[in-house]
Amino acid sequence: MTAFTASAPGKIILAGEHAVVYGQPALAVPLPAVQARAVVRALLSDQEGPLRVIAPGIDLDSPLRELPPDHHLRAVVNAVLEELGIRQPPSLEIRISSTIPISSGLGSGAAVSVAASRALSAFLGKPLPDQKISEIAFEVEKIHHGTPSGIDNTVIAYQQPVFYAQGHKLETFTCPEAFTLVIGDTGHPSPTGRVVADVRQGWKDQPARYQAVFREIGDLVRTARSALEEGNLPQLGALLDENHRLLQQLEVSSPELDHLTQAAREAGAWGAKLSGGGRGGQMIALSPAGAAEEIAHQLESAGAAGTLTTCIRCT
Ligand code: PMV
Repeated sequence: MTAFTASAPGKIILAGEHAVVYGQPALAVPLPAVQARAVVRALLSDQEGPLRVIAPGIDLDSPLRELPPDHHLRAVVNAVLEELGIRQPPSLEIRISSTIPISSGLGSGAAVSVAASRALSAFLGKPLPDQKISEIAFEVEKIHHGTPSGIDNTVIAYQQPVFYAQGHKLETFTCPEAFTLVIGDTGHPSPTGRVVADVRQGWKDQPARYQAVFREIGDLVRTARSALEEGNLPQLGALLDENHRLLQQLEVSSPELDHLTQAAREAGAWGAKLSGGGRGGQMIALSPAGAAEEIAHQLESAGAAGTLTTCIRCT
């Protein structure tokens, strides 16, 4: 029997996280080295309910209707069925697998939503376009993230580098040469929704101070885009350092993230910063050619739970 399969990459925010929730631009690229995958196939019997969701990575094997209403896979399936106007779907099974670590700033939730909605809509004979897929993933992000900016679903659904600002037409960017990132994992998952809520509280308590930092990050992101487009990687590195400093001012860094970013700089990185929600999760280091192995080694010596070296092409 035909199975429909779809995959979606992880993502890395190069610059602009948190400020992007307040209307500033941010830069993000897909991370194809890690992927979420969804396989949808027909079930021969609907004894266990017409829709079954299986995700061995999170020990899930359940009829859809038995999942809590705010479960993110239930929300994805229902959003696709609603979008397609299907009230009584055929009996089917959706199987999710993913190599993207959860709650660590690599976009695992959005990638699962994108892969699942692509595979499901294709199985139902009406493959949805990228824009709809992105909108569905955005709605689902809201359940757990509260006020997402929309950058994760956008970069993952369109699978291209994005210069993203809420409410603006999607812009991509190109860079003349590929560059190398070493991604270091603190080993501590950090739910983005909680950090975003803390920043919101800080902004409410001290609006002028937070607003000034958001603006500074927005300006930095515009300069970083130009540096990327000109292939000026040392300048980009200095901007990543500066972005990390501004994220510290928003209190979204952590001792581990500060320690790992410093270790990366000392190992020869052009620059380093936390990436994503912060407080845990991942950091990134921009590596000169030939330095990635040493940076990864130093990150591991400094306590990183793991590293991933990846070559980013924005052509
Ligand atoms: O932690 P992640 O990878 O989901 O990234 C969150 C980025 C934020 O700017 C902090 C939140 C958002 O919705 O843009």
